[in-house]
Amino acid sequence: MNKQTIDYIVREQDLITQDLSTYLKRHEKKEMLRLLVAGSVDDGKSTLIGRLLYDSHLIYRDHLESIYQDSKVFNTTENEIDLSLLTDGLRAEREQGITIDVAYRYFSTEKKSFIICDAPGHEQYTRNMATGASHCEMALILIDARNGVRAQTRRHSLIATIMGIQNIVVVINKMDLVDYSESVFQQICEEYLDFSAKMSINSIDFVPISALTGENVVTKAERMSWYTGEPLLSFLENVKLADESNLTGFRFPVQYVIRPNSDFRGYAGSVVSGVVHEGDEIVVLPSGKHTRIKDLKTYDGYRSKAFPGMPVVLTVENEIDISRGTILAKPDNLPTVTNKFDATIVWMDEEPLKCNNEYLLKCNAQCVPVRIKSIYHKYNINELTHIKADELSLNDIGKVELLSQRPLICDSFTDNKEMGAFILISRDTNATSGGGVIELKQINNAQKGQNLSKEVSFVTTDQRIKMLGHKPATFWLTGLSGSGKSTIAKILEAKLLERGILSYILDGDNLRQGLNSDLGFSPEDRCENIRRAAEVAKLMNDAGLVVIAAFISPYQKDREEAAHIIGSYYTEVYVDADIESCMQRDPKGLYAKHAAGAFKGLTGIDAPYEAPLKPTLHVNTTQETEEESSEKVLNFLLSVI
Ligand code: ADX
Repeated sequence: MNKQTIDYIVREQDLITQDLSTYLKRHEKKEMLRLLVAGSVDDGKSTLIGRLLYDSHLIYRDHLESIYQDSKVFNTTENEIDLSLLTDGLRAEREQGITIDVAYRYFSTEKKSFIICDAPGHEQYTRNMATGASHCEMALILIDARNGVRAQTRRHSLIATIMGIQNIVVVINKMDLVDYSESVFQQICEEYLDFSAKMSINSIDFVPISALTGENVVTKAERMSWYTGEPLLSFLENVKLADESNLTGFRFPVQYVIRPNSDFRGYAGSVVSGVVHEGDEIVVLPSGKHTRIKDLKTYDGYRSKAFPGMPVVLTVENEIDISRGTILAKPDNLPTVTNKFDATIVWMDEEPLKCNNEYLLKCNAQCVPVRIKSIYHKYNINELTHIKADELSLNDIGKVELLSQRPLICDSFTDNKEMGAFILISRDTNATSGGGVIELKQINNAQKGQNLSKEVSFVTTDQRIKMLGHKPATFWLTGLSGSGKSTIAKILEAKLLERGILSYILDGDNLRQGLNSDLGFSPEDRCENIRRAAEVAKLMNDAGLVVIAAFISPYQKDREEAAHIIGSYYTEVYVDADIESCMQRDPKGLYAKHAAGAFKGLTGIDAPYEAPLKPTLHVNTTQETEEESSEKVLNFLLSVI
């Protein structure tokens, strides 16, 4: 060890023993960067971390000496010291097959403090890496210059970005083994940029190094004079990241209600985003009630304002029902309050995640029971492609739809990390089964941004019912193309008119030529088609009309959504006919066209139709005439309106 290093360690250690407060103050003022280091031992990860610790003088002398001895014994690096031995705890764990956690290592230079999150890189430890990444601001993705971008490079990058890391430094290691070749470096950069274009990353930088020799880690490498950037450590010391503290939307999850006596009621928690001042108007969610901040008290006494990260006890002007899990926000920027949302999930449980499974979801101070409504896909993590999946197994990452028993107050993870990240807890074992990030649909964001309120009409539904002489209803006819939905709908509409009942048909073919002309037949478009149709039906019901909706509506979850939108006026009618009868009738010539290869994805042939499991009414047009089926529906309809 050189003299300069020893002097530095002695100086620092003296300061720690003699004047701890000066030592702490000096370090307290320094900026902090949390780094995720992703790569495998083969890429030189341990050596790089060891090198950073060593060159920033943070290894104790006796530790270093023992490593020096070990290096000789293992003879891994000839005469050089094997720095990877510094971080070898992890490797030992892996060899013994013990559960591996994330190792956090701390080092500090004159300019900055660093926390390195050293997560095992192998596929089976995806969950550990995701856990580590969720706390980091930057990821160092290590690549072996001899191998270039590999499946695991893509996997690490994907996990890092899913967990919200927006800044990536691609460290191309082992440049000494490719003759410090600029063209090898360039080629890897291009390859990485090519694939990363699919992800949303704020900044990507590339640094060629040799962790073994130390070139370009701390000091510039003469043998890579073509590289004009900074060595890795100075790059990390000087890099300025966009300020991630979110000052725009005030969010305060209430952790505890403090009520020492009947005169005082304070709400304790930490501001997770935004700023709040004494006297500010706030909204209490989920109730939506308004009040004002009376005062803000911290450990150091009263404050006029509180900002992100600040633990504080708030008091408010009015007596409002506020309890643990309540979120306080400001009226001009409200989070979303929803029972249904999409999320990307990293699964951490031996028991796979399946549709309809129930878990407890914890998001900041909120804890709500949730059900998995559907699994959209899981990732082929190595290829960054989506695969259809019925379940997520241990270490899988996938996108799912969740239904919560009580409304969850949240934001998209990309807008607010604290309000958009959650864990799922198994109700059987109480263990953390998975972690996830919320992705709210644009629709929710738009609604949120517009600060909407509901205008209530002077005319009530009851008045409309009285005037028309019947109640509204939506009879939702679902079935294959050619099953007879439209025919039954038209017969019904005419018979209702004869009885003085105002009804209107919403038909898939017709809506698709107007309101829904921008939609095709992909599962997502069919879902949106049904959602819009249901919203229209709801408005018509509100106006007092009887709606007859005729849509294939092939997906159970879309019909559930329609039922949810329409509410108690919804009645599901399954217009059942076997596919052979539909093909024979083929009123629109669709089956023939499809057979001739004119298009793909026809429901019942090469696109799914999920028959209703429990329709309110079931008519079978293969066995009954259309008149008979219509009569059945009519009789039921007359009994409910
Ligand atoms: S749904 O699946 O989204 O509910 P919808 O009822 O609106 O479908 O529209 C179905 C109508 O679209 C059919 O009656 C048919 O005329 C036409 N159509 C065109 N292509 C397809 C297809 N690939 N699958 C089903 N219907 C199709």
